[in-house]
Amino acid sequence: MNKIPVKTAEELVLMRESCQLTAAILDAVEDIIHPGISTEDINIFVHRMTTEGGAVPSPLNYKGFPKSVCTSVNDVVCHGIPSPYVILKEGDVINVDVTSYKNGFHGDSSRMYYVGGPETCSEAARKLVRTAEQAMYIGIEEVAPGKHIGDIGAAIQEFIRESGFNYGIVREYTGHGLGREFHEPPQVVHVGRKGTGDIMRAGNTFTVEPMINAGTFKCALSKVDGWTVRTADGLLSAQWEHTVLVTESGYEILTEGKRQRKKGA
Ligand code: MF3
Ligand code: CO
Ligand code: CO
Repeated sequence: MNKIPVKTAEELVLMRESCQLTAAILDAVEDIIHPGISTEDINIFVHRMTTEGGAVPSPLNYKGFPKSVCTSVNDVVCHGIPSPYVILKEGDVINVDVTSYKNGFHGDSSRMYYVGGPETCSEAARKLVRTAEQAMYIGIEEVAPGKHIGDIGAAIQEFIRESGFNYGIVREYTGHGLGREFHEPPQVVHVGRKGTGDIMRAGNTFTVEPMINAGTFKCALSKVDGWTVRTADGLLSAQWEHTVLVTESGYEILTEGKRQRKKGA
């Protein structure tokens, strides 16, 4: 028997609510991303919308993280700390990673945004962002009872190899189970071999959140703040994240937003 918690129908009612609040916040963030705003402006917005939704922002004070959301610009892979000194400019790409905690459950999701619109970003940046989004959905397609957690990473790795970014799948940071805890079993790696890892069961909830780097997969952790993760070579990184539920017949994406395109484009 695996160690992945199984949520009851009653628990899932509550968890869907946390996940849907997270999705609504990410939908709303789309309207505030403009050249000239700071990542602290995003933090203030997310913090307010989270608390107005009756939730607590999970990142705030999590292992000492000082803000309510992660904002990761360009070569920042993940865990970027919002700052009034980081001002967004045309052509930047940013990942906003929101986790809401409500009624005892967490909902975790992140998306990429083009600052100033996609037309202001390089073709290379757009390709990386789209590929990372497709990689997430290709991983999610593997989710079903009886399948292995390793099937997710295997599918992502094969897709990324074909797309030409093979050396760029981040290894050091992974998806994770979540529910009553922000991070619980299983670990969801974004590379790997089919048929390895725990077997999924209906009621398991976890994230799929591949980080794809334009160059090397290797990352460097900031010695200054102890959180910010950058690509080791300074090239771009992109990430998308959903919280998913294993259902009797396959999967349900719990953090799908009303304004979010399905399946990536
Ligand atoms: N939301 C991130 C994840 O996807 C975790 C952020 S931890 C924090 O797992 F402390 F940086 F907020
Ligand atoms: Co997240
Ligand atoms: Co996560």
